[in-house]
Amino acid sequence: MTLRISVIGTGYLGAVHAVGMAELGYTVVGVDVDADKVAALARGEAPFYEPGLDELLAKHSATGRLTFTTDFAAVAGADVHFVCVGTPQRRDGLAADMRYVEAAIDSLAPHLGSECLVVGKSTVPVGTAAAMADRLAKTAPVGAGAELAWNPEFLREGYAVEDTLRPDRLVFGVTSGDAERRLRGVYARAIDDDTPVIVTDLPTAELVKVSANAFLATKISFINAMAEIAEVAGADVTKLADAIGHDARIGRKYLNSGIGFGGGCLPKDIRAFMARAGELGASHSLAFLAEVDAINLRRRQYVVDLTRELVGGSVANRRIAVLGAAFKPHSDDVRDSPALNIAGQLHLQGARVSVYDPKAIANARKVFPTLPYAESAMEACRDASVVLHLTEWQEFRELDPAELAGIVETPVVVDGRNCLDADAWRAAGWTYRGLGRP
Ligand code: UDX
Repeated sequence: MTLRISVIGTGYLGAVHAVGMAELGYTVVGVDVDADKVAALARGEAPFYEPGLDELLAKHSATGRLTFTTDFAAVAGADVHFVCVGTPQRRDGLAADMRYVEAAIDSLAPHLGSECLVVGKSTVPVGTAAAMADRLAKTAPVGAGAELAWNPEFLREGYAVEDTLRPDRLVFGVTSGDAERRLRGVYARAIDDDTPVIVTDLPTAELVKVSANAFLATKISFINAMAEIAEVAGADVTKLADAIGHDARIGRKYLNSGIGFGGGCLPKDIRAFMARAGELGASHSLAFLAEVDAINLRRRQYVVDLTRELVGGSVANRRIAVLGAAFKPHSDDVRDSPALNIAGQLHLQGARVSVYDPKAIANARKVFPTLPYAESAMEACRDASVVLHLTEWQEFRELDPAELAGIVETPVVVDGRNCLDADAWRAAGWTYRGLGRP
């Protein structure tokens, strides 16, 4: 019989996971408390931009193998329940807001009438899984018959479908051989014999996720710290990254310097990790992450200050083109986006900012409605005193610097992602400023 799967929470993680599970051939129901999101998904429309998602959503909605609802009763009878709800940063501090995870467990519990596996995928403070297992054992009618496992998700936005269907590794935090067997069964169609599967206890599985994100954030802030040094020493951080990246122990990936990391994961995850270490009496162990965060936030300030300097001391009434609003390309996500933050700061300092992004304008308007937005890169750049390249969309790399030079007021470009062809822009008459480059 086909495995029946429920997915609780249909945000970036849950929607992609639900679609991925349907693509693997299972019968899937996605449940969310947000009626608008559920209605969109039920119509076969992804509530956010993710390459490849719309096609698979339409394909599986049409077969009826994939359904979405706000009614938790629909999870009854599923063999495996994946908890994919968000764990945003709390408003009153650095810690993760756990209310959605707790609510998901509480809403699931009454409907777990038979032996089943509840699998946490959300990124959570270590210790959550054990607490949720206790909560479930006390509240589910089947008691301990509903077993809890933790299976962190490592998907990257922009590659989420690919990462879900072909994970580079799987981590199973389990308390029994049966849970491991069930999880191996679920993923059997997504992996081959070479895919590493790490089977471990619950706290290790939870920690794998946050420590991976902490390491990635540290790698980016390391190269951005080198960019600061390169800046004062007259060196080129991109050449430096290439050179150290050839050392296989370091690796070139994730060493791109620029305006730093943003998004719904890395910034809030390192903060929640610090908060949790504090609760466990080990804040000293993660004190360095405060510096990682500080270096990262300094990048945004640096670009704002550099822009002010480039236009002669004040941005008031100066036209500034901002290319990019998403926190990274191939995504319409503007959560904690460095690009949007920089645009916002300049706007608040009186600049006449014009922001363009190929996918993220609708979301940007929701969080920053007063910013002026453009319909195209050319429109954003018209009469600009400075062009800021802040999200590295392919479309921006393909801009013709000679054509653009003809429509700006002053041909000055700040490459906040260090990836434009500096020689081509200079040859077309531009003053090109990379970050951490001479
Ligand atoms: C990240 C992790 O990569 C993923 O494994 C985890 O599951 C969720 O968090 P994501 O937030 O989708 O994924 O984006 P990612 O591609 O990691 O980029 C995060 C941020 O770092 C972006 O703002 C990006 O621009 C920035 N970044 C990335 C750099 O500044 N330099 C780099 O070299 C790489």
